[in-house]
Amino acid sequence: MPDPQLQADGARVLADLTTLRGFGAYKSGVHKPTFSEPHMRSLEWLAQRLPEAGLAAEIDGIGNVLGSSPKSGPKLLAGSHLESQNYAGWLDGPLGVVYALEAARVLNPAPGVNGAVEVAAWCDEEGHFGSFLGSRSFVGSLTEADIDAARDRSSGRTMRDALREVGLAGRARATAQRGRHIGYLEAHIEQGQLLEGGGLAIGVVTSIVGIWQYRISFTGEQNHAGTTRMAVRRDAGLALARFCVAIDDRFPGACGPRTVWTTGHITLDPGAPSIIPGRAEMLFQIRDEDPEVIGRLEDLLQDMAAEVSAQGRCRVAIERIRTGAPALMDAGFQQAIEAASATFAGGRSIRMPSGAGHDAQVLATIMPSGMLFVPSIGGISHHWSENTDDADIVTGAKVFVDACRRLLSA
Ligand code: GLV
Ligand code: MN
Ligand code: MN
Repeated sequence: MPDPQLQADGARVLADLTTLRGFGAYKSGVHKPTFSEPHMRSLEWLAQRLPEAGLAAEIDGIGNVLGSSPKSGPKLLAGSHLESQNYAGWLDGPLGVVYALEAARVLNPAPGVNGAVEVAAWCDEEGHFGSFLGSRSFVGSLTEADIDAARDRSSGRTMRDALREVGLAGRARATAQRGRHIGYLEAHIEQGQLLEGGGLAIGVVTSIVGIWQYRISFTGEQNHAGTTRMAVRRDAGLALARFCVAIDDRFPGACGPRTVWTTGHITLDPGAPSIIPGRAEMLFQIRDEDPEVIGRLEDLLQDMAAEVSAQGRCRVAIERIRTGAPALMDAGFQQAIEAASATFAGGRSIRMPSGAGHDAQVLATIMPSGMLFVPSIGGISHHWSENTDDADIVTGAKVFVDACRRLLSA
């Protein structure tokens, strides 16, 4: 068992998570959309904690919080995000940020530790305004034009207006200094049931899924719902509903073993019971760890759209609006997490892919990256009832801090 001075303080981790849960509390979860008041309070809270870990804090021009160390030696970047989905869980994001803070508080002042953990909270991982805007800004793959185009998907508020309203407009965006970091480590709740079902404490993430998203638009003819006979209608809403069912019939013939697809949002225009919708739109997402599988499914979608359009009642157009490449996690990082699990979790760990997207897949484009998962009760997430046993949170913190220690000394 390593030096007790170099171990996570479980009570402190739970207390910090409870504090963050108090900002934007909703039932047993939180409502903390990007740039909302409780989100900004969470960023300020973190910035005020970072000096306790010997880190200089900065909130940059995209809303990332970064803590940098003046120590010499290797630097490990660690973190996650602080905003939530709407009316969602308290641990999705904050768990990884608090673990990173704890690792920095434990390891940075320790005389025997060479180098430091630097902490990051990436803005808008949950995609209120776009996809991974904060971490993409940090790795240099977000343009000013991307920010100009970004709008809050719930309110329509532009990102530029939001940045102005929270006082971040005009601040510089921090970007990675090449060679500064030995890599990036992120912890997260599993958001699935593999760990709980197997009585396991730690998931060692091997890869993170790719996420492709589409806007699928149907154009028919708006008309009177009482006087237009069924045989002559060009009902865009009905065409959309049929398309959803057709996807479920045809994707299984072309997908991979772990592909998932979701229609997450539907609009009917004008959306009134006495009017046949002339237009309809759905937001559709595909996830898989193999870009070839996603490409195959995209081709199938296009074929299906062409078939519907050829039938003549409604035209279907497909626009790809998000591509998130899948990422492999670094082998050395996986080994460090497994070794830490052997010490602090009785070896109750398993290697597993992530079906959720995470900032680690963006960081992995420029540095070795790794992730660990802790169990989710009932596998529930993106819902306010999301939770994890306190004992599992504490075990995860101890494994995380020890994995950081191992990576810094490797
Ligand atoms: C991240 O929250 C995701 O939707 O995978
Ligand atoms: Mn998350
Ligand atoms: Mn999430």
